[in-house]
Amino acid sequence: MPPPAASSFNGLIELLDALNCGAFLIDRSGRIEHANDRLCQMLGLNRPQVIGRSAESFYDAPDAAEYIHSRLANFEEPYEGEFHLPGPDKNKIPVIMSGRPLGTEPPLSNYRLVTVIDLTGQKAAEAQAQEEYEVISRLSDTVLAQALELKRYNQKLEEKVRERTRELHDANMEAIYMLAVASEAKDVDTGAHVRRIEHYTTLLARQLGLPDHVAEEFGYSSILHDVGKMVVPDHILKKPGPLDMAEREAMQLHCIAGERILSQKPFFATARQIARSHHENWDGSGYPDGLLGEAIPLPARIVHLADIYDALTSERVYKASWTPQMATETIYKAGGSLFDPNVVTAFRTLHESGQFTPPHAQD
Ligand SMILES: [Fe+2]
Repeated sequence: MPPPAASSFNGLIELLDALNCGAFLIDRSGRIEHANDRLCQMLGLNRPQVIGRSAESFYDAPDAAEYIHSRLANFEEPYEGEFHLPGPDKNKIPVIMSGRPLGTEPPLSNYRLVTVIDLTGQKAAEAQAQEEYEVISRLSDTVLAQALELKRYNQKLEEKVRERTRELHDANMEAIYMLAVASEAKDVDTGAHVRRIEHYTTLLARQLGLPDHVAEEFGYSSILHDVGKMVVPDHILKKPGPLDMAEREAMQLHCIAGERILSQKPFFATARQIARSHHENWDGSGYPDGLLGEAIPLPARIVHLADIYDALTSERVYKASWTPQMATETIYKAGGSLFDPNVVTAFRTLHESGQFTPPHAQD
């Protein structure tokens, strides 16, 4: 095919040489009419080694020849796509090739301009990004695995702490029961009495609307309400008849003694209140401080009722046990004098619904 007229070509060649990307002119047969400096650099050849050769001759692979043929067969059709150039040392240079017809009239219509943009840097950046992504992905997996391991470790640790706390709580409760039984052993009844008081106290506290953990705390704190009886002489504790004034005073000391015996630790704070104030009356006629109404700590007001109810319904050396009905009537009547009216109301509700029964009847 004859080359285009020099006048229509010269300006174009100068323009192609000024481009920052590779560019060449190719005719319908696939012969390279012109190649700019940038393209020659990419191929590692000088211009005479490029011009006049067919595009296909630069490639060994059959699929490359097929690609070039298909582009030449559609000569007027613009195209753009990723391809590769045979670089120096037979390496493949990734490129984007864009082909456009030069014009619609001969001779320019017999040539097309192809620009070639080197993607090597972009591909390297993509490969680096992919590698970084894989590193981050592996690190994420490691961090995730470590986080899961840490979570499992924390769960084990929490379970151990819970277990240890349960053991400590159980040991505390055992010590409380042992101390209570030791002090009650001097009295007529033994451990059964304190377990009933614990049960009644918890029931009443719940009925008064206190949260479960508070009701349970009131319950186990009530167990030691009479621990101060350790200091009361046996002949007074076990006297079958009424006590005289001096004996009564000695007996009443068990409240203050109980508070002193109990530890200052927070765990025993409620137990100390109960030990001191479980014989205070709502109307201020109780002992040891003659406290009135709400000045009496609530757990002590509850234990006061539970203790009297249990004393009435239990057998003593000086009396037979009362029926629950008799004891209940007495409690009802003592609301506002001996007992906090609210605690009596809670007791009445529990009694009338059949819930105020000794612990063994519940099991
Ligand atoms: Fe008491």
